[in-house]
Amino acid sequence: MASGVVGEEVRNKQVILKDYVTGFPKESDMQVINGTMKLKLQEGSHGIVVKNLYLSCDPYMRIRMTRVEGPNVLTSYTPGSPLTGFGVAKVLDSGHPNFKKGDLIWGTTSWEEYSLITELEGLFKIEHTDVPLSYYTGILGMPGLTAYAGFYEVCSPKKGEYLFISAASGAVGQLVGQFAKLMGCYVVGCAGSKEKVDLLRNKFGFDEAFNYKEETDLDGALKRYFPEGIDIYFENVGGKMLDAVLLNMRDHGRIAVCGMVSQYNLAQPEGVQNLMCLIFKRIHMDGFAFFDYYNVYPKLLDVVLPYIREGKIKYVEDIAEGLENGPAALVGLYSGRNVGKQVVLIARE
Ligand SMILES: NC(=O)c1ccc[n+]([C@@H]2O[C@H](COP(=O)([O-])OP(=O)(O)OC[C@H]3O[C@@H](n4cnc5c(N)ncnc54)[C@H](OP(=O)(O)O)[C@@H]3O)[C@@H](O)[C@H]2O)c1
Repeated sequence: MASGVVGEEVRNKQVILKDYVTGFPKESDMQVINGTMKLKLQEGSHGIVVKNLYLSCDPYMRIRMTRVEGPNVLTSYTPGSPLTGFGVAKVLDSGHPNFKKGDLIWGTTSWEEYSLITELEGLFKIEHTDVPLSYYTGILGMPGLTAYAGFYEVCSPKKGEYLFISAASGAVGQLVGQFAKLMGCYVVGCAGSKEKVDLLRNKFGFDEAFNYKEETDLDGALKRYFPEGIDIYFENVGGKMLDAVLLNMRDHGRIAVCGMVSQYNLAQPEGVQNLMCLIFKRIHMDGFAFFDYYNVYPKLLDVVLPYIREGKIKYVEDIAEGLENGPAALVGLYSGRNVGKQVVLIARE
């Protein structure tokens, strides 16, 4: 039971990490247990008690399952404790002036039915509820901010430029591609199944898309889709794809390094062979992280909410129902089982 709360006890189902993970994560690395929780704050608490509604499955969570020594931007999970991550929740009790009972919020919460949240920085009050609440784990949450900041602030895009996106049908990629189409870029994405490639072409309006798992020669595939080269690469996967892209970049191209999901389960990261292309082609390669762009979030709402309402942007979600299905949903990210943004529904309001 979380200290800092009082009153009658209710069941609180939780997903805990059993132990640190090596290699690909398995469902059995996590366990669903029944804890208890009291839903009233202690007198004088400045935290909030929430009922979790949706939890977000995000690739970086695997990195937190590894024991990380020393200071790191991503701290390790604690074995025996619930996972933490992004979610959408409803406030049941509040000791903080910015939040009141009944408010809907998104931000960092725990993988459980009810949570006591004491670190309220980075929690956002949800003001617009005419769109699905689950969108605040995706297009209107952390992945949306990542796509928005990554594309508009890091890629320096211009109309007519040639853009390539890996893991293109996922939570972030599907948005980057649609932002780029709205700007008038030529957009190609790759993904790991026919179903995803069809989505890229037919639902998200990419100019071209291919299944990287069917290509034996990634360099050749990129030359097929970009005979004149790539201006912007939105990097989500790393590894062999990055090497092939480097060979196909145009002079003064930009690479926005958002993630490298192909590397998260490897004990030894793969090396990159073609980094010399950065020099010859004078390429700008920038890593970035969403948490440096919270100031841009109001802009994202101003731009993207109208796009959603007018149907100019589509957002595909893959919703697993029930906390007990959370571990399978999370593990599925690393084999590409998810089609679109992977969400876990815990409770409807
Ligand atoms: N920098 C930041 O602030 C930030 C924020 C959010 C996310 N990210 C990063 O952005 C990337 C995309 O995240 P997302 O939330 O949009 O995830 P996602 O695309 O919804 O899910 C992960 C996808 O990665 C692909 N994948 C998994 N293993 C792979 C492998 N070995 N090689 C190639 N592709 C693989 C799978 O799609 P396929 O079926 O297409 O293989 C899978 O569906 C990740 O690298 C993530 O860590 C960074």
